[in-house]
Amino acid sequence: MMSKTWIVTGSHTGFGKELAIKLAQENNINLVATSRKKGQLDYLDQYDHGQIDKEILDVTKHDQVVTTVNNAVKRFGSIDVLVNNAGLGYFGTFEESDLDDAKYMFDVNVWGLVDMTREVLPIMRNQKSGIIINFSSIGGLFSFPTLSFYHGTKYAVEGISESIAKETKDLGIKVMIIEPSGFRTDWAGRSSHKTMPTHDDYKQFAKFIKSNEEGAHHEAGDPEKAAKIIIDEVKNHIDDLPLRLPLGKYSVDTAIDKYKQALQLFKNNYNISTSADQPEK
Ligand SMILES: NC(=O)c1ccc[n+]([C@@H]2O[C@H](COP(=O)([O-])OP(=O)(O)OC[C@H]3O[C@@H](n4cnc5c(N)ncnc54)[C@H](OP(=O)(O)O)[C@@H]3O)[C@@H](O)[C@H]2O)c1
Repeated sequence: MMSKTWIVTGSHTGFGKELAIKLAQENNINLVATSRKKGQLDYLDQYDHGQIDKEILDVTKHDQVVTTVNNAVKRFGSIDVLVNNAGLGYFGTFEESDLDDAKYMFDVNVWGLVDMTREVLPIMRNQKSGIIINFSSIGGLFSFPTLSFYHGTKYAVEGISESIAKETKDLGIKVMIIEPSGFRTDWAGRSSHKTMPTHDDYKQFAKFIKSNEEGAHHEAGDPEKAAKIIIDEVKNHIDDLPLRLPLGKYSVDTAIDKYKQALQLFKNNYNISTSADQPEK
């Protein structure tokens, strides 16, 4: 059974837009789509027969978070699925990164997601049902050079989401973490500020940043397919929703490889690790 009211943050472009377009065409779905500026969701008007609410939402603005959630409940009576999709990137080596950029990214990717979730959770607890879908990334499991702070945000999303899932599993609330690899959205282009390395020790990484910038909108991942997969998971797997869903072959292959290597490392050092405890009595 399909859940009724969905909120999707960051529906102006990318995954959020594709999700909004698909949800707007589903039967029995109310959609709360959000964008930072007025007019950015007009593409939804053609599907609107009273089931779509367009809200202005910058997830770093608490008053807009509260208004969006209140308006959704006032209009549709429930919030069944929250998609914390809004996010951005930042490229730069750890030493050369602009910390204001890095902190702003944490404000959006982590604290914005936290704020939305804390506003919605009491409603879901009252309903005794709900699904929280949090956009992480393969970058929430595996790290590349020049993305240290982005990884920081997405590893944070992973940890926070996993913990919420444990706290809410007996309350009828489910959590699904989405972990895409490269997808054809605005993320690697306009949605990621870049600081090019200038120090000789780090110059080699400029190539990686440039190739990401130039590769924007040429990645393997198709956001329209991703949107369909996410909606189908909620429709068809409500009782066994995966906590983690890598999207894209690169993502799942990289995740498998990372965990294989991590497992080996933990096993190799097992005796050292356990030797840190007090002897068992
Ligand atoms: N594309 C990929 O390769 C990829 C891979 C892994 C994970 N992801 C994640 O997927 C999510 C969606 O990104 P995308 O790939 O679809 O990129 P996108 O096309 O750049 O879309 C990001 C959306 O987030 C919105 N946003 C940015 N800051 C916001 C804020 N403060 N408040 C509310 N909305 C805000 C943007 O709004 P504006 O249009 O106003 O800027 C935009 O609509 C992000 O969390 C990203 O980290 C993307």
